[in-house]
Amino acid sequence: MTERRILRRVRGMPTADGAGVKLTRLIGQPLLDHVDPFLMLDEFRSDRADDYIAGFPEHPHRGFETVTYMLAGHMRHADNHGNHGDLVAGSVQWMTAGRGILHSEMPVQENGLMWGFQLWVNLPARDKMTAPRYQDIGPERIPTVHPAAGVTARVIAGTFAGATGPVDGISTAPIYLDLALEPGAQVEVPLPATHRAFAYVFDGEAVEVAGEPLARGELAVLGNGEGVQLAGSKAGARLLLVAGRPLNETITRYGPFVMNTPEEIRTAVADYQAGRF
Ligand code: FE2
Repeated sequence: MTERRILRRVRGMPTADGAGVKLTRLIGQPLLDHVDPFLMLDEFRSDRADDYIAGFPEHPHRGFETVTYMLAGHMRHADNHGNHGDLVAGSVQWMTAGRGILHSEMPVQENGLMWGFQLWVNLPARDKMTAPRYQDIGPERIPTVHPAAGVTARVIAGTFAGATGPVDGISTAPIYLDLALEPGAQVEVPLPATHRAFAYVFDGEAVEVAGEPLARGELAVLGNGEGVQLAGSKAGARLLLVAGRPLNETITRYGPFVMNTPEEIRTAVADYQAGRF
């Protein structure tokens, strides 16, 4: 098996989004514009209500998918296509915005820890104007596997260690794993050679990726290969390991719209303003 190695590493940039939610932007920032097909990765983590209470009031999206994975806390999703969902610890919400959707994600709690991730996954040109779709997946539907001693994996999307995640029908065939490694534990994770991949250590101390330490708070873009070798450091750690088939298409972004050309962005703005979402 050709092993994937760390190609580059970045730390996140503190920023705010929505109505003033404080977060850390890992992908979609000056140091790392995108990891095709992934356009953005945000981590929000705070036990200060002021940092999250304003939430993400109603706003539009077109041309890609937004994925919220919750570790702690409680938010509620609602959109103008009639979907509602409770974002609770361990749940995932995979929203395919397609040709247009208006949604909100608002905190239900008034205090306590709010912790999770939002990932933006691009859609290929042929699917950017597809019908919107919303997959609301409770924690009990995400399989947990133990592929090696001291290793626990939640399989959110894709297949790993005999388990297939509940997210289905996504253009870029993503793999989305939440991995916990106890001190000294080791595991090899196969990832299709066709896919681009990244790893982000969000808890504990560090993980060794192909023998190189990756500290908490660092995101590694992985090189090509068929799999990645991971090992827990002395204190153990938890990480996201995400992979997807790259699109190799032109990306034109304008806030919540991600299309291929500036003309398509102008159409998106006009359609939104005319109430066609
Ligand atoms: Fe959104």
